[in-house]
Parts: sequence; structure tokens; C-alpha cells
Amino acid sequence: MENKSITTSTSSGSNGDDEGSEKRGMYLVWEDITVVVPNFGNGHTKRLLNGLNGYAEPNRIMAIMGPSGSGKSTLLDSLAGRLARNVILSGNVLLNGKKRRLDYGGVAYVTQEDILLGTLTVRETISYSANLRLPSRMRKEEVNEIVEGTIMEMGLEDCADRVIGNWHLRGISGGERKRVSIAVEILTRPCLLFLDEPTTGLDSASAYFVVQTLRNIAHDGKTVISSIHQPSSELFQLFDDLFLLSRGQTIYFGPTENSLEFFGKAGFPCPSRRNPSDHFLRCINSDFDTVTTTIMASQRIHEHNSLTPSLGNLSTAAIRAKLIERYRWSEYATAARTRIKQISNFEGYDGESKSKNEAKWWKQLTTLTHRSLVNMSRDVGYYWIRLAIYIALSLSVGTIFFDVGTSYRAIFARGACGAFISGFMTFLSIGGFPSFIEEMKVFYKERLNGYYGISVYILSNFLSSFPFVSMMSIATATITYYMVKFRPEFSHLCYITLDLIGCIAVVESSMMIIASLVPNFLMGVIIGAGYIGVMMMTAGYFRQIPDLPKFFWRYPISYINYGAWGLQGAFKNDLLGLEFDPLVPGGPKLKGETILTTMLGMRIEYSKWWDLAAVVFILILHRVLFFIILRFKDPASHFLYSIYAKQAMQRIKKRPSFRKTPSFSSKRHQTLHPLSSQEGLNSPIH
Ligand SMILES: Nc1ncnc2c1ncn2[C@@H]1O[C@H](COP(=O)(O)OP(=O)(O)OP(=O)(O)O)[C@@H](O)[C@H]1O
Ligand SMILES: [Mg+2]
Repeated sequence: MENKSITTSTSSGSNGDDEGSEKRGMYLVWEDITVVVPNFGNGHTKRLLNGLNGYAEPNRIMAIMGPSGSGKSTLLDSLAGRLARNVILSGNVLLNGKKRRLDYGGVAYVTQEDILLGTLTVRETISYSANLRLPSRMRKEEVNEIVEGTIMEMGLEDCADRVIGNWHLRGISGGERKRVSIAVEILTRPCLLFLDEPTTGLDSASAYFVVQTLRNIAHDGKTVISSIHQPSSELFQLFDDLFLLSRGQTIYFGPTENSLEFFGKAGFPCPSRRNPSDHFLRCINSDFDTVTTTIMASQRIHEHNSLTPSLGNLSTAAIRAKLIERYRWSEYATAARTRIKQISNFEGYDGESKSKNEAKWWKQLTTLTHRSLVNMSRDVGYYWIRLAIYIALSLSVGTIFFDVGTSYRAIFARGACGAFISGFMTFLSIGGFPSFIEEMKVFYKERLNGYYGISVYILSNFLSSFPFVSMMSIATATITYYMVKFRPEFSHLCYITLDLIGCIAVVESSMMIIASLVPNFLMGVIIGAGYIGVMMMTAGYFRQIPDLPKFFWRYPISYINYGAWGLQGAFKNDLLGLEFDPLVPGGPKLKGETILTTMLGMRIEYSKWWDLAAVVFILILHRVLFFIILRFKDPASHFLYSIYAKQAMQRIKKRPSFRKTPSFSSKRHQTLHPLSSQEGLNSPIH
């Protein structure tokens, strides 16, 4: 066990990081980490992790290994503060001696799932990320150098100019995607780096190079923790520390080179020519015990024995139980406990000074806006299809209401046409939902990794969508205005264009709000359609505003409805100053003002520009609301979750069965233990 002094480690980082923080590095300690999925009904309360202890130090790379479903991702999520809300974590995670929230920029985390913008090329993805995060003081050439260096490190030169790929673009391969995800995170040489199965989908040579790069990063004074699936022998040797998990319990934690010795001493030595990781997993994976038993019962008994000669006749569950017990009382566990004590007593430096090391907000804003613009212009589903439909619909409206004129019947035609344009045309914003959701996913990932703030994102999202919203509005307004011949004056065309831009921008904002609240595309479309339906109904065409029930529908809905203000402005723009033929020929002409007040129930005491101002005000309100939701959604749910977790923990602890005995989630293993320990969390009583 290495006993380095905390203040004397490592060289400085390559990207001009804060000197002090580099010298010290990140010391992560976890004590008695238990994660449970509570169940207060008749089901079992399942332990995903069971009293794990460990630590990670700078200059070392740790592998978390274990069979599939053993809790590797759960452990990484617990350490990074990103556990799902339905599980409860107890125990301590200390960073440099202090409890700290590690979400929102605390750590870099390459998740098991790759979340990337599919329309960008590999090089673009990496360089946008570099521009978003590397300090603004760095020159363009320096940034490019880092980008190219990272592309090379991850072996991505061949696919650097290929797009990543999405639903309509076939892009790079799965292994290449994985390497892009890693490249994006290692760009800034983070002090604490988590990776969840970075080598999945890679061949053994690529996996070796990727892990070699990670090892170099670690040996440059950083702390790297990575879960890994069945590494080859060479790959296995690259890791300094090993955390071996099985069903949420520690099988072994300590330096990798001692792991073979541990297995040997426990009575399960690794055969000389076998890959150690193969051997370890064979010993502890009891998921296939039943299958093995069946095979053994059949004629293939010889084959099985030849596969596992060293394991004798013991079942894997028994081997596992023995290893857990052995580790608990081993010198490795004692050494780990001692080191944990040392590190946790260290009241060291208080986190990294982030502001020095990140890009200035305006650089983030321009980069993000540019990236978003590129994405929107390449993704056909984002705006282009909608633009085509807008044009097709406008041509339909134009031909149906062609040269509408000023006859008595034209009054109703103009009303219906105006209502269709400002009401129904905005409905099409729903079409962008899949892209909204994709963008929100990328935003959440980047926000969790601390790339930029919420306000920068909201502003950039508005700025990048603005040209497209304008394009759609100008196309719709121009086609309909000239075909229907509403008014000949150009200023009226400008007004209706602005009115449409305002209304569509509000609907876009509402859709983004919905996209940030719902988990998937289908729910988003349903809720979005419902919302726009209500807005159309209360806009003043289907039911005039004075006739709306006062409670709720008129106050406040009609006032916060962009459609009501937008439609009123559009009608004023169209009708004020016009005269229409009367119902009975020879009677007095009908004035636009009279039609507006008596037939359409609109208020004309103020100008149409105030209506437009109201739409703009509602747009700003929506953007502020979007900000508030993104800003407070997580803290609020975190707060509610902590209350829930506390109460749930109290309830669970009251159970006599919640004790620290090894828990076996499968019924078939319970015979190995005395009855008292079977009354664990998996007891059928609970
Ligand atoms: N939020 C959750 N709610 C309920 N069960 C969960 C939750 N998260 C994980 N689990 C369960 O916990 C166990 C461990 O899951 P985890 O994802 O940590 O495994 P893993 O070791 O990463 O597996 P793999 O190698 O397949 O990625 C699994 O049985 C999984 O079904
Ligand atoms: Mg996993």
C-alpha cells in the first residue's frame, strides 16, 4: 500500500490549470456506501451496493470490475452524485476530506451511454467542446493543438471528418462514438475523471491505447476511476488499483498487482496461463450457476471441469461468499481502512478555482450559438421540414382565400384566414420535438459536467433558433399576404411578420419548457398538443374574449395567451381602416373598427403595436420561466429527494432485518447461510 504524503504529489497539468490544485490533486474517499432500492410494499428492498469502502488517489488509475449487474455503474454514480432518484444512498463520499456535491461541474464523467449531437463531425464535436471549456486566454492555435492532440490520442484521425450520426444520418461506429465521448472529457485534463466502461465496443488493441491514454492522464497527477468489462491481461496490468465487485459487495480492493496473491491465498489461484480478469469473474459470477449445474448434470461435465479446473466442486456462490469473508479480514482491507482514515482527516484545499480555468461567458455564448446553428441547419427534422410544410400550408391558404376582397362575406373569410395563420401555423412547432429532446439531453449532460451555465444555454438557444423562426414567419407572411391580398401596404406585411415571429418564438419556448420537464418525445408531443389546443381555444376566435368565462379562462389564461394578443394585433393590422360591403346592398359601408369591436369582440382603444409588445413580453416571460425551471428543477427535486431518503432510511432501519450481512438477491443462494441472515432485505416478509 502506497503511503504518499498528500502535499507532495505530481507534476502540473498541461492546460494551464491552477498550480495549487494541480499539486494536490483529488483525493476521493467513500465509506460504508450502501445503495438500496426501497420497497415498502410486499416486494423486496434490494441492496445494490452493500457497505463499500474505498479511496482513489491522484497519480493512480483504478479499475472497477465485476460481472454485469454487479453495481459498477451504481458505484460510479454514487461517487459522482448522480444516482437515480428511486434509490437511496447512505454513507460518506469525501473529496479532499470534505463532503461535497460532485454534480454540476465537480467531476468529468464519461457515462455508459454516449450523448452527442449527431449532426456534427468528430472534429467539430471536440473543438466546440474545447472552445466551450478551455480558458479564453488560450490562443486559437493552442486550442487547435489540443483538439488535434486529443483526436490522435483517441485514434480518431480516420473518422475525424465524419458525422457522428443520428436517426437519419448513418455516422461513425459505436466504438468510435465511445472514443469521441472520452475525447470530449479528457480535453481539459480534469483532476477527477470517472469513466463507465470506456472500452465497450472496442477491439483489444484500441482498448489498450485508450486505457494507456487514461493511465497517462492519471500519472500526470489526476485521479481516474473507470469501470471495465473483462479486460485482456495487458489491459488489466495498466490499472494501478482494482475494485472487484460482485452483487454490490467488495470481493477485493487494493493494488492490482496484489489481487492475484489475494485469490491465491483464498484458495483460488489463477492458473498460470489464464487472464487474471477472466479468472476473477469466473470465480464471482454466480448468475449462471443454474445453467452450469444443468450442464454438469448432462454429458458435458468434462468440458466444464476443463474450463474451471482450479475451482474444484464449489459453486460460484460459495466461492463468492468465501472471498467476501476472506477480504473482510485480510491485510488489504486493513491497509485500505488505514489509508482511508489518513485521507479523510486531511482537511485540504477547498476545490478547484474553476473561474480561472474556464472560458468566459461570451466565448461560451458564441461557441454554443454557433454549434446550435450548425446543428439546426444540418438536422432536417429541426426546421427544414417545418419550413417546407409552412410554405406548402401558406400556398394552400393563399389559394383557398385567394384575393379575398372586401365583400360582406370576406369579413368572415379574413377572420378565419387570420385565425388559421396565427393559431394553427404555430402548432407546427411540435414537429421539432425529437430534436428539442436530443438537444436537452446534450444540455443536461454538459451541464452536469459543468461546461456552461443555464443562462448562456437559454440565450444561445434563442439566438440560434431566431434565424429559422424568422425564415418561417417571413415565408408564411409573404406568401399569404400577397396571395390573399390582405393589405397592399408593406408596413402591414412587416407587422404580420413580426407578429408571427413573436408567436412562433413563444410556442418554441413553451415546447422547450415541456421538453425540459418530460422524459421522452411521445409525452412531449401529447402535452405540447394539449397546451397549444388550449391556447388556440382561448385566443378569441373560437370564443370571443368577452364571452369567455371570467374565472380561469379569461383571467388569467386569455391574458397570458400569446395567441390572444397575436390574433388581436393581426386583426387590427388587417381590418383597421378598411371598409366592407354591407349585408344588404345599398346600405352604409361597414367600417373595420365596427367589425373589430362588435363582431370580433376586440378592444381597439390601443394600437396594434401594444398587442405586439404584449407578445414580446410573454416571450420574455417564457424564457425566464424556462430559466427558472432549469435552474431550480434539480435543486428542488434534490431537496424533496433528501427528505424522502431520510424518511425511507429511518423506516428501513427500523426493520430488524436491515443488518450488515451479505445479502443475496437470488433465492437459490439462501441455503448457504444460517436462517438468521436469510431474514435479510430479501426476506419475503418485507
Ligand atoms: N435506479 C435503479 N433502480 C432499480 N434497480 C437498479 C437501479 N440502478 C441499478 N439497478 C440494479 O442494480 C444492479 C446493478 O446495476 P449497475 O447498472 O450498477 O450494474 P453494472 O455493474 O454497471 O452492470 P453492466 O456491466 O451491465 O453495466 C442491476 O441489477 C440493476 O438492475
Ligand atoms: Mg454499468
